[in-house]
Amino acid sequence: MSVLDIVIEGDESLTQKAQAVTDFKLDKVQENVSDMIDTMRHYQGVGLAAPQIGLLQRIIVLEVANNKRYPQAENIELDILINPEILECSQQTEIGWEGCLSIPGFRGEVLRPVSITYQALNLAQEMLIKTVYGFHARIIQHEIDHLNGILFTQRMTGSMLKPEKILSF
Ligand code: NI
Repeated sequence: MSVLDIVIEGDESLTQKAQAVTDFKLDKVQENVSDMIDTMRHYQGVGLAAPQIGLLQRIIVLEVANNKRYPQAENIELDILINPEILECSQQTEIGWEGCLSIPGFRGEVLRPVSITYQALNLAQEMLIKTVYGFHARIIQHEIDHLNGILFTQRMTGSMLKPEKILSF
């Protein structure tokens, strides 16, 4: 429906805890999700959390479709997660580079569990439980962090942010 502005680091909506969706109609979930998908695709994100458009609702969208910002990432079908919760994390962890549309132009290394099992509502208000691995698990962890007011820079293993354009991935 519309491409919205992305809220940039420093804005207080990125440090607050988002509220669970309780009423899909009143909370305008369908409209918000459409705007989030348009915005994510426009800025070539692989995921977007509602607080990044200034909306403090527990909604995330993700999709990887031959993404130019992450050319080596496997494709991931569009997914919409409402009130997502991580149920289980693997013991095994790995370090990976992350970027964020709210911290434009930079990447940092973050240690995270390799796989997670999560539950979330879909747009049909069905509760789904899924286990995902690798970059897919990383995106969901990164986006759920946004719902809790946490940016990847608070989780970085190294202290250095690197310019996105010098990294070859
Ligand atoms: Ni982000």
